[in-house]
Amino acid sequence: MNLHIDHAKRILVANDRGGYTVPTDRLYPFQWNWDSAFVAMGFALYDIDRAYRELERLTEGQWADGMIPHIVFHQPSDTYFPGPDVWRTKHTIPTSGITQPPVFAIALRKVHERAGKHAEARTLPLYEAALKWHRWWYSARDPERTGLVALHHPWESGSDNSPAWDVALARVPTTTVTPVMRKDTGHVNADMRPRDEDYKRFIHLLDTYAACGWNPAKQWEEAPFKIAEIQTTAILLKAGEDLEHLARLFGRTEDATEIADFNDRSRRAMLAQWRPALRRFVSRDLISGEDVQAATQAGFIPLLSLDLDKDIADALVTEMKTWSKGLKVAFPTTKPGVGSWEPKRYWRGPAWAIINWLLIDGLQRNGHPDAGEELRMSTIAAIETEGFAEYFDPVTGEGCGGLGFSWTAAAYIWLMR
Ligand code: DGY
Repeated sequence: MNLHIDHAKRILVANDRGGYTVPTDRLYPFQWNWDSAFVAMGFALYDIDRAYRELERLTEGQWADGMIPHIVFHQPSDTYFPGPDVWRTKHTIPTSGITQPPVFAIALRKVHERAGKHAEARTLPLYEAALKWHRWWYSARDPERTGLVALHHPWESGSDNSPAWDVALARVPTTTVTPVMRKDTGHVNADMRPRDEDYKRFIHLLDTYAACGWNPAKQWEEAPFKIAEIQTTAILLKAGEDLEHLARLFGRTEDATEIADFNDRSRRAMLAQWRPALRRFVSRDLISGEDVQAATQAGFIPLLSLDLDKDIADALVTEMKTWSKGLKVAFPTTKPGVGSWEPKRYWRGPAWAIINWLLIDGLQRNGHPDAGEELRMSTIAAIETEGFAEYFDPVTGEGCGGLGFSWTAAAYIWLMR
């Protein structure tokens, strides 16, 4: 028995709140969207029923228009800000009003494939939920049919305070209707979290969309933050491939054609975001019309869902090696040494097991299994040395942020399979 696997499973038990898993106690006391998708893949390896439950409980929060919100507030908790009273959404089970990276269908396919014979009946309602969500992405967040989906809030990226948002976020006022009463810095060292100024802008955006009544068309018009985002689109495309696969498996030919069309659109649009001089892909700021130049992990995530020409894949890997050189733990979420690089501050440098998981899959897909294996070993070593921390300082290897973290536990179980 591997003691670390045993420990990882105990973390998932400790963070269970009744069929769903909180990311970690107190800091994140509700169900988070992409966290749960990663957790479901971990469960899929040893408890299929629980894997399905995780996804089913998430869909309890799905909106009528198809969006799956980034937080589902199944039960009250006073250890988190902003709670349901700040979001002011109208869903029966309280939820936030924004979404998060669509890992869901990637997880669903894996759960389905591990479930064996009688899986279809349990998978189908989740497949329907995923399809509704993908339709929502392509209508609400790409009304001009460009193939790249847009984010209205940094929290939607999951990479909340990434340097990728610095330019766009600086345009967002710091005034808020809602008083900003942070709780996160009561649980975790403030040096590891977004700054107060970021929070004011996060809440300004939230207030703006609440005033739009969370209506997607109105938000699209009024959003002061609108990024056609490469990491989210790359994840959506991989999820779209998995969804298309399930559609064909279930004989849903019309769905499959519709999903294939979404996927083709995203594939073409993503390829156009390749910047050879930077050796990575870039997002586009839809308000300024400019490329997002910041050097972050997002530029490499297209490895996950594109079958790249060898010269592009090789260039990406060369650039990744430059960033990782001399680090104790790869892969850094910001290029080491640039002005915005802060190796302990959340998404401004630290290495995250789930990002590594996506990159490992992408490196394998694109003919670089050795680089993938190196990253897998680096991730495993970090966790075995420091425990199941939220993320890791890439220079010192120190485990940072929340501890006993569910997705780090799930990633460990997955990467050790
Ligand atoms: C937070 O509150 O830090 C979350 O990342 C938002 O989803």
